[in-house]
Amino acid sequence: MKFYIDSAIIEEVSDIASWGILSGVTTNPSLIAKSGQDFRETIIKICDIVKGPVSAEVTAEDAPTMIKQGKEFANWHECVIVKLPITTEGLKACKALSHQGIPTNLTLCFSVNQALLCARAGAKYVSPFIGRLEDINEDGLRLIENIKEVFDKHNLKTEIIAASIRTPQHITASAKAGAHIATIPYKIFAPLVKHPLTDTGLEKFLQDWKSVCIEKTDNKC
Ligand code: G3P
Repeated sequence: MKFYIDSAIIEEVSDIASWGILSGVTTNPSLIAKSGQDFRETIIKICDIVKGPVSAEVTAEDAPTMIKQGKEFANWHECVIVKLPITTEGLKACKALSHQGIPTNLTLCFSVNQALLCARAGAKYVSPFIGRLEDINEDGLRLIENIKEVFDKHNLKTEIIAASIRTPQHITASAKAGAHIATIPYKIFAPLVKHPLTDTGLEKFLQDWKSVCIEKTDNKC
């Protein structure tokens, strides 16, 4: 499973990119608004940092305007993925853009049927939202498992992006459920690295090493 960051804040993207584990980025209109920065400039900067797929979401509600926006975004940078909502108009736009070789990420997925429609419309990615399903007492991880099972059974190549991730446990569970990608908020990355036994183990290694250095007469360690 690949790691994407779900953020439009350049400093957050740069920080996680510097770890050497980042494959892509997803944004949405709320995240762009939160960044307070220009949409086009932000997407281009992020593409230059990550050099991998970067989702930029349309804001139109009718297919012709979605297609127009999608083509414009795709011209900004070769890494842009056009993000579309799963509506009838979004599916039409997905089909048209995919047909022209422009990759799409279909977002706000809450059912297997929606995911199947996206795959049939030629979506490169589909994004089931785990956290928002759990908010209404439904099983978001089961949805990922079910989409994976159906896609495998029917040999559908659309990749599953586990989205609306809220906890480190969502990431392990998404990987086990077969998601190809998890798109993760910035604040969830640090807890993925940390383990108290790593910290205490490293402290002991370094203490022992220092005591050897002190015992040596030449002080060379
Ligand atoms: O990738 C989708 C994400 O931005 C939505 O997350 O926490 O608002 O449900 P959340």
